[in-house]
Amino acid sequence: MDTNGLELLFPKEFIFGASTSAYQIEGCPSADGKGPSIWDSFAHRKGKIKNRDTGDIACAHYDFWREDAELMRKLGLDAYRGSISWSRILPDGTGTVNRKGLDFYSRLADGLLEAGVQPWFTLFHWDLPLALQRRGGFANRDCACWFADYAEIVAGALGDRVKNWFTINEPFEFSCFGHLLGTHAPGLRSPWKYFSVMHHLLLAHGSALERIRSVRPDNKAGIVLSYTTVEPRSKKPGDARAAFLADQFMNRITLDPLLKGRYPEELFRAARIFAPRIKDGDLALISKSADFVGLNYYSRETAFRDVLTPVFGFSVTGKDGGGRRDDSIGRTSMGWEVYPRGLYDLAKLLQTEYGNPPAIIAENGAAFEDLVENRLSEYAFSPFFSGDQERSVRDVERVRFLQEYIGSLGKAVSEGADVKGYFVWSLLDNFEWAEGYRPRFGLVRVEPATLRRTVKDSGFWYAELIRAHRSLR
Ligand code: NOJ
Repeated sequence: MDTNGLELLFPKEFIFGASTSAYQIEGCPSADGKGPSIWDSFAHRKGKIKNRDTGDIACAHYDFWREDAELMRKLGLDAYRGSISWSRILPDGTGTVNRKGLDFYSRLADGLLEAGVQPWFTLFHWDLPLALQRRGGFANRDCACWFADYAEIVAGALGDRVKNWFTINEPFEFSCFGHLLGTHAPGLRSPWKYFSVMHHLLLAHGSALERIRSVRPDNKAGIVLSYTTVEPRSKKPGDARAAFLADQFMNRITLDPLLKGRYPEELFRAARIFAPRIKDGDLALISKSADFVGLNYYSRETAFRDVLTPVFGFSVTGKDGGGRRDDSIGRTSMGWEVYPRGLYDLAKLLQTEYGNPPAIIAENGAAFEDLVENRLSEYAFSPFFSGDQERSVRDVERVRFLQEYIGSLGKAVSEGADVKGYFVWSLLDNFEWAEGYRPRFGLVRVEPATLRRTVKDSGFWYAELIRAHRSLR
């Protein structure tokens, strides 16, 4: 179980953790007074989720959280990034606080601290209270204020123990899949909504940051963005322009306003008929200096000129390289290219183009078909686990994936990129949105039928890396 000295690339204070999100793992959608979220409703709409899966049960983490905290203790995680379900705290999104919902996260925070794991919570990981969607959701500018009120309530209640917050998870995916492509909740398809939801999410982040600081001056907070490497399919000028615009559309649309205080010009020129209403002071609020910026990194995609796409004139594909099939490229079971180099490039981009802000890799990981065996693998003979498991999950590809991506990140960190932490997506196999339960991203396998948890070889390997890193302290 060799770490190959990877731990030496990271400073002593660097933190290694694992991530999840509420709707993807909790289950129990109406327990203890929880109100419905847009995902509770969307997942039950016909034809929206593969295999008709829903998050109704998921990993039943709402019931099994003690066991999950114990797993994290055994893995030795420095930190855990979970998310808070807004509609457990405020069943209608605003108004009366549901004490029982808040108590759940309070117990969880205590349990994690007892397990020696720092809790880092995301306040919004896509499960908007349904009642707020009925009032326009994030397409309504007021949603930024509703979110800030909610953030203040949660930080006020938990900020004595939870010291680090992520405001919003992946504004691009929430706006694009939920409001432009319609493949995620709330299932809308409107380019106007895409831009207005994006702008309001960023405003929500800025407003929440102010409110968290007002109630908990010692807490730290930042947003979580996605970043996808985009490359042109060919050297033709049309493809080069496609890649340039796609990068603005997917990446710079969030990075630039947050870290440079302006939206990417070319994109906004191309899409001017859809551009959101930006008021005086908005960009100052959005770009208020946060304590860190979270980045989720997975893969590389290919952009090409596509006259069939209205207004923008480009398309992007990650699944088959835009028609450029190359069998030497490794892919995960999502069809995403394995591209470790991209994590190095991202960290260097932040360092050289965005002022080297303190950054956290809030998600990185892969779905693969895991091999389950009814005997113990050599990995499982860790002093912390022996005797606990009778089975092994041989996920050789995930171990290699993590080694390569973490190595690539370590190289950037040793060259001065200010990345302070890394979280694997995911702690548990879970509900992968429109893809259902089929893709398994976990360090820990979860059987949907029995909910039984089995640490995979990648989990043991990661635990070993963290132990080796900790022994440097
Ligand atoms: C990003 C999202 O934040 C998370 O919810 C999702 O499961 C992973 N990527 C994998 O697609």
